[in-house]
This record gives sequence, C-alpha cells and structure tokens, in this order.
Amino acid sequence: MGTTAVEHLKALPLFAGVSDDGLARVAAVATEFEAPAGRVLAEIGQPGNGMFVVEEGEVAVELPSGGEAVLGHGEFFGEMALLIDEPHSARVRAKTDVRCIALSRRDFSALLDEEPRVAVAMLPVLARRLRGAI
Ligand code: CMP
Repeated sequence: MGTTAVEHLKALPLFAGVSDDGLARVAAVATEFEAPAGRVLAEIGQPGNGMFVVEEGEVAVELPSGGEAVLGHGEFFGEMALLIDEPHSARVRAKTDVRCIALSRRDFSALLDEEPRVAVAMLPVLARRLRGAI
C-alpha cells in the first residue's frame, strides 16, 4: 500500500483498536485493488482466498435467500469462507466502481492471532449477518 497506508487503515473501524505497529504490519501485507461496477469479487460456492475491506464505493452481497446486502466504506466481506474454511456463502459484486483492501488468507489468519481486537470488532458484524440469515 502507499505511504499514507497506516492513515487509511486507521480510518476503518475494523482496525480502530490496532496499534500503529500492528497497522504498519497490516499495511505491509495488504494490497489495494480497484474493480469496475459489475465485477464479481467473490463467487458463491468458490473457495475463499482473502478478506476484503471496502474503501470506496459499494458492493452488493447477493444473499442465497434472494435479498441483497449493500456494503460500503469500512465494511468487509469474504471473511466467512476463511473463518470456517468453507466456500463463499454468497456472490459479492461491485455495485459501483470500488476500491478495496485485500488481505490473503494467511495474512488474515496472522492478523487475528496478533491483533485479537480485530476479531472482536468483527463479532457484532457477524452476529448481525447471522441474524439476517435466521
Ligand atoms: P463469504 O461467505 O466468504 O463470501 C460471501 C460474503 O458475503 C460472506 O463471506 C460475507 O462477507 C458476506 N455476507 C454474507 N452474508 C451476509 C449478510 N447477511 N450481510 C452482509 N454480508 C454478508
């Protein structure tokens, strides 16, 4: 990521509890990518390769129930496949042009080990996603 990477990460609630050293480690391994509206970023039934945080724009999660969840700045996706080592539970596509941060499976796992606050920050989001599914 660029020189302002730590500042970028700090602005995301997911990383709010992470020390500057921790953020520097995340910035060193995270990659940023842009995708045009319509691009599929995670496909239902496919294995997960990474966890993604939306920096700019919006993605649509096509829920198997038929509904759609829209995720924007600071929200993350792709985590479920990594946490339980099962295929993606939904298709995620860019609803607008998007810029996202990507963490590989291995780096995501290391981040949770080193910065448990990230895992804690994910819990209410996961609870809300689960509640939406039951
Ligand atoms: P994963 O199963 O890896 O791939 C699809 C992703 O969509 C999933 O991880 C979550 O990141 C996201 N997702 C699944 N269900 C919901 C939901 N109810 N609301 C928002 N995002 C969801």
